[in-house]
Amino acid sequence: MNPPKAPRSRILATGHYLPPIVRTNADLEKMVDTTDAWIWERTGIRERRVAPPEIVTSDMAAAAGRSALDAAGISPRDLDMIIVATVTPDMPMPATAAFVQQKLGATTCPSFDISAACAGFVYGLTIADQFIGSGGAERVLVIGVELLSRIIDWEDRTTCVLFGDGAGAAVIGPAEPAGPDDGKPPRGILSTCLFTDGSLAPSLWLPGGGSLHPASHDVVDKKLHKVAMKGQDIFKAAVRNLYAASKRAMDLAAMTHADIDWVCAHQANLRILNQVMARLGVDEAKVLANIERVGNTSSASIPILLDENVRQGKIVPGDTVLLCALGAGVSWGSAVVRM
Ligand code: ACO
Repeated sequence: MNPPKAPRSRILATGHYLPPIVRTNADLEKMVDTTDAWIWERTGIRERRVAPPEIVTSDMAAAAGRSALDAAGISPRDLDMIIVATVTPDMPMPATAAFVQQKLGATTCPSFDISAACAGFVYGLTIADQFIGSGGAERVLVIGVELLSRIIDWEDRTTCVLFGDGAGAAVIGPAEPAGPDDGKPPRGILSTCLFTDGSLAPSLWLPGGGSLHPASHDVVDKKLHKVAMKGQDIFKAAVRNLYAASKRAMDLAAMTHADIDWVCAHQANLRILNQVMARLGVDEAKVLANIERVGNTSSASIPILLDENVRQGKIVPGDTVLLCALGAGVSWGSAVVRM
């Protein structure tokens, strides 16, 4: 194993926002032909959050961003870049990041969206790390945000039980020149790896509203403006690829599962998580989870979970955390970070 490169950037602080409406499995029992028992056993979800009509994606993103900036003690005016990972933008054009920039009161720093679905936060983190590493930026706000309740078919029991709304954020800045003198690598983003397999695109998509099927009455009648998913294809791709990517990120950081303090994985399905962790040999006690309370919030999933555990004092400075996520594309990735 080659020794890892010194980290170029690190997570300075995190934040998150969850909208106020709680939709339980019992609520869903009244909407579609499902049961609390089925949802719980197959997914590990009990309830999820839903945004009220007056809240849009950029509101949730700005709230999460503000909370991360406050925790970092950094003014929005000090940001060099805003990256918003989302598949539920305010509108197709312009980027949601442009609205977030205005709502935060940031400068004219470059602000753009990326579309990597549930893997969006790991993609955003990697882009921030690259920009900081190359000297192109010093302080980058990465936000994962989804308002999935607006693009879900609430009559389709195979998808509507899975997803929730929310936003998570991280402020990324330069790594410290020297880490704590404990024989471990310095604090920072120690490794990242990203992948996409476009052959699986039809397994999870929302085909309407783009250049292939522009908005029309017909598109709406056929529900092409709603999420459609082949759940088992995604399940198999997730178990296979999250294992391989996590292994790769640990190899790049010259680490094994024994060096990992916490796993902060995308919360898609508890069964996926358990199977991946069993294959990696990770102790269950290290695996963080909040899927029971928030469901699958796609790109917001990892930063919400990370921030909850930082604020609860479970993840402390110096802890090594493995991140991994897979979603539509299919796109997936993993990272090892020392907080
Ligand atoms: N309630 C009750 N029954 C249901 C429900 C429901 N909500 N949904 C499906 N069923 C039924 C099916 O119709 C099927 O019935 P049948 O046997 O009579 O045909 C039966 O339950 C089993 O269905 P499966 O699809 O085989 O169930 P499975 O065990 O695969 O679980 C699930 C389905 C939970 C969707 C699982 O496949 C999964 O989690 N896949 C991954 C999904 C995922 O992570 N998606 C997000 C990716 S991230 C992103 O980019 C947004």
